Amino acid sequence: MVSRRDYRSLRTCSGWRRFLLLVPVLFVLPHLSSVVDFSSTPSSRNEAQSIRSKKLDHLVLGPAAGVGFPDRLHCRGTKALNKTHTTTSHVSGAGNGVSFVTVFTVYDTSLDHLKSSNMVSVIGNVTYSKAERSMAVLNAFANFIQVTMPKSNVVILTDPASHLSIQPRNVMVLPIRGDYSRGNLMLQRIRSYITFLEMKLEKNDGGINHYIFTDSDIAVVDNLKTIFDKHPNFHIALTFRNNKDQPLNSGFIAVRGTREGILRAKVFLEQVLKAYKTKYMKASRMLGDQLALVWVVKSHPSFEAKRFTKPQAFTQEIAGASVLFLPCALYNWTPPEGAGQFHGMPLDVKIVHFKGSRKRLMLEAWNFYKSTSNIPDMLCLVLGSGRTKYDF
Ligand SMILES: *[C@@H]1O[C@H](CO)[C@@H](O)[C@H](O)[C@H]1NC(C)=O
Ligand SMILES: *[C@@H]1O[C@H](CO)[C@@H](O)[C@H](O)[C@H]1NC(C)=O
Repeated sequence: MVSRRDYRSLRTCSGWRRFLLLVPVLFVLPHLSSVVDFSSTPSSRNEAQSIRSKKLDHLVLGPAAGVGFPDRLHCRGTKALNKTHTTTSHVSGAGNGVSFVTVFTVYDTSLDHLKSSNMVSVIGNVTYSKAERSMAVLNAFANFIQVTMPKSNVVILTDPASHLSIQPRNVMVLPIRGDYSRGNLMLQRIRSYITFLEMKLEKNDGGINHYIFTDSDIAVVDNLKTIFDKHPNFHIALTFRNNKDQPLNSGFIAVRGTREGILRAKVFLEQVLKAYKTKYMKASRMLGDQLALVWVVKSHPSFEAKRFTKPQAFTQEIAGASVLFLPCALYNWTPPEGAGQFHGMPLDVKIVHFKGSRKRLMLEAWNFYKSTSNIPDMLCLVLGSGRTKYDF
């Protein structure tokens, strides 16, 4: 499966990465991942061309990082040598009482045939247009949840004007009015989350249902219900990493489904929305929500940024809510690009996030799972292939 040539192209990634730093507009693009947006707008056509030529349109399987670390996944090709998720092996009832909520919209692509960039891409034996790719990512998102948390459902908050062709049966589409234009999307996403929580407060349907708001380019590979049981006191949970400028990722927000939890999460998100509108409107397309989230957390007087340096869960009272911070290493794991140092994949990883140019890998991973029904082997595919930049 791996040719010598593919190996070499993997190695050239470090030079490639340095080059990328010169193109900030593309560098921040990977954040915009909930609504999968393929129409990057680099500043010149030449730049766009040379970047596109470096991105690969087929899977490249390289060596799996993490060799020598006993608590990391070891692989031989796509064969996993370790058992993963030993404590929470998948059970048929998994996911009862947890809903995933994501914001997703499709844009009018009727003019796309005029652009040369609207190429079709092939995954397995299926051909996708640009619009079909983003639908395929959304379907894969729901399909992974159906496998690992079969009792969970997926709620898609969307523009009443979009028409989504959803396949998996665990999906419910909920139109919420708003401005879902590209430039306003991250702002609208927080608004839609808040509206959704308000609807849940109004409609008290008895019983407790927890909510996990996520980007749609993630694969849930373990039962996330355990978060709510293991940490019984938080209202809202976020994922953090040891990164000075971007310590929090807005692609994962869990909310406890008690009245108290929903109410406090709503108030917390309203503060994030306010910070966004007053401080980060210029960043609105890409990072505004993430910057606003960090601002709300860090501006709390008792917050210690030092706690982000260790990948250990902790809880803090912030903006009236009890906030659980979960390490990205487990709850928002992203395959790193390029040749930077990295210690592989933890054995109990819960979420794989296919940020930026990794959507092809997400579809390949789902295809691989469909034919093998083996999550650890699929994780080996992701681990070995995730450092490459793909064409979408
Ligand atoms: C995972 O597999 C590798 C290779 O067989 C082994 O060295 C390592 O100890 C295993 N880790 C665990 C936790 O079993
Ligand atoms: C694509 O491949 C799958 C699995 O090998 C097969 O079931 C399906 O019929 C194929 N579809 C087409 C259009 O060839």
